[in-house]
Amino acid sequence: MTLSIIFLLALVAFALVAITWRFASRRQNLPCPVWLRWLVELDNPFTRTNRAGFIVETLALADGMTILDAGCGPGRLTVPLAQNVGPAGRVVALDIQPGMLARAREKTEVAGCTNVDFVSAGLGDGTLPTSHFDRAVLVTVLGEIPDRYKAIAELLGALKPGGVLAIVEVIFDPHFQSRKTVTDLALSTGFHERAFFGHSLAYVIHFEKPGGG
Ligand SMILES: C[S@@+](CC[C@H](N)C(=O)[O-])C[C@H]1O[C@@H](n2cnc3c(N)ncnc32)[C@H](O)[C@@H]1O
Repeated sequence: MTLSIIFLLALVAFALVAITWRFASRRQNLPCPVWLRWLVELDNPFTRTNRAGFIVETLALADGMTILDAGCGPGRLTVPLAQNVGPAGRVVALDIQPGMLARAREKTEVAGCTNVDFVSAGLGDGTLPTSHFDRAVLVTVLGEIPDRYKAIAELLGALKPGGVLAIVEVIFDPHFQSRKTVTDLALSTGFHERAFFGHSLAYVIHFEKPGGG
């Protein structure tokens, strides 16, 4: 009996925090705090389209490719991305919070990946090289960025012609962005939509930079 009351209280507390955070996020773009990184360290067993393995598989990676993990957080995708492009490939893991990058670095070291570069910067600030990446991933990051147009436009510039950007959103994220919002934004910067996986509450969309032939 006592246990079930504690469980119920914990559930209510969790729901209140989630709802408050969702509303607060609408007023202000708060990045996922470093102390809460454990929430995004592991794959969510309930959402297939948000799992690192699933996202990586959709990207048809090949040895030697150059990949951008934009808003890499604690590196949930960084390691599988690095492993899937081989030693001749390269991954750039970019995040605005040094604490997230430090955790991602630790993980790549443990996994023995030597093909990852870490960049401490905000997406949209103009730090990325032009026409450099074969693929870019933006996994549950978009809603945390104040100037989303600038961020997506920077990604368009950073990809090679024919390069693919995967944007991943899941309803459990307080910063969730709808499919329509994401698609309208990406198309307005010049991307073409190439593929969609999942459903309206949890999805991966591939956008291609035109000019790949
Ligand atoms: C919810 S976490 C997702 C982490 C990772 N992509 C994943 O799926 O496990 C969002 C991350 O985006 C980062 N972020 C927020 N705004 C950013 C920006 N303008 N530029 C780069 N990273 C940003 C945050 O610091 C945080 O690490």
